[in-house]
Amino acid sequence: MDIEKLRQEFQKRLATVHDSRALEELRNDFVGRKRGAITSLLKELPKLLPEDRAAAGKQINELKELVEQQLGAKRAELERPSAVAEIDWTLPGYDHHIGAIHPLTFVRHKIEDIFREMGYAIAEGPEMETDFHNFGALNFPEDHPARDTQDTLFVDRKEEASGKNLLLRTHTSPVQIRTMLQHQPPIRILCPGRVYRKDEIDATHSPVFHQIEGLAVDENITFADLKGTLLHFLRSLFSSDVQVSFRPTFFPFTEPSADVSVSCPFCKTKGCKVCKLSGWIEILGSGMVHPQVLENVGYDSERYTGFAFGLGIERVAIRMFDIPDIRMFHQNDIRFLSQFRVTE
Ligand code: DAH
Repeated sequence: MDIEKLRQEFQKRLATVHDSRALEELRNDFVGRKRGAITSLLKELPKLLPEDRAAAGKQINELKELVEQQLGAKRAELERPSAVAEIDWTLPGYDHHIGAIHPLTFVRHKIEDIFREMGYAIAEGPEMETDFHNFGALNFPEDHPARDTQDTLFVDRKEEASGKNLLLRTHTSPVQIRTMLQHQPPIRILCPGRVYRKDEIDATHSPVFHQIEGLAVDENITFADLKGTLLHFLRSLFSSDVQVSFRPTFFPFTEPSADVSVSCPFCKTKGCKVCKLSGWIEILGSGMVHPQVLENVGYDSERYTGFAFGLGIERVAIRMFDIPDIRMFHQNDIRFLSQFRVTE
């Protein structure tokens, strides 16, 4: 029998097979031990002339292999469960788990949005800093206590004399210096970032925390600009009816300097747990950029003035959400984090 014809016949029959019984029948007809057409061809082989045997055997075996392979494929196809039949349309749908934004990210975004609206750009700087950017250029005297190893995490003090010794930045203020060294006024920037201090960990202290620094430098910037900007900022952040208080204080890099508090948005100055019965919450440090700082970055302090401010993101988030322990921000406990399903 013509092998090619046999192959075509098999193919034609295979196409009509839709259940395992028909498949079994097809198998018997072609490769069954008793009546398979291919099996009997193989049995006839010895009757052929010796010189034809090898070629014929090869052809028949190839066909047998093809048939068996296709039978196998068909079996797998028939055994595969039908997708439609498997779906149980009565099952309830999956609950899509929507993540929550980290409270520190929420506060940072909120503050960034308020300042972006006022035309501020976001600036960033390295977490490992030089003494010059973190202290020197910001007018910290050589013997300032912050420069002590008790407060600052130094990475490398080898080059102490040159001011190039490395440390983990203790605040985001060095980004002011980096920005002013690279750009000429007018400058309006907001610098969020991680900062480090050699603090023991407890409910209110962490050796790693986050700050946001703000800086505006231009001609004719006055303390009134500082007050107006911070009043708008704090009312946007908390609520439009908070009062804002400025108290004189000292920072080496600003003169004059002010600590800024808001009237407690929770008790409206009556006194509560969040404001520790004082009626006020201290939020940030600020001031007019010290003329020496402007000179340190090569600005003409007769022509330019500016204001700056800095705040701790954890501090704000703790007050805003009444969080009892600063460590909760870093423990990544899903039971804590999932409570901040706030829409941005
Ligand atoms: N760098 C200060 C700190 O870490 C915060 C600060 C205060 C930043 C006053 C300023 C500022 O820019 O003007 O406590």
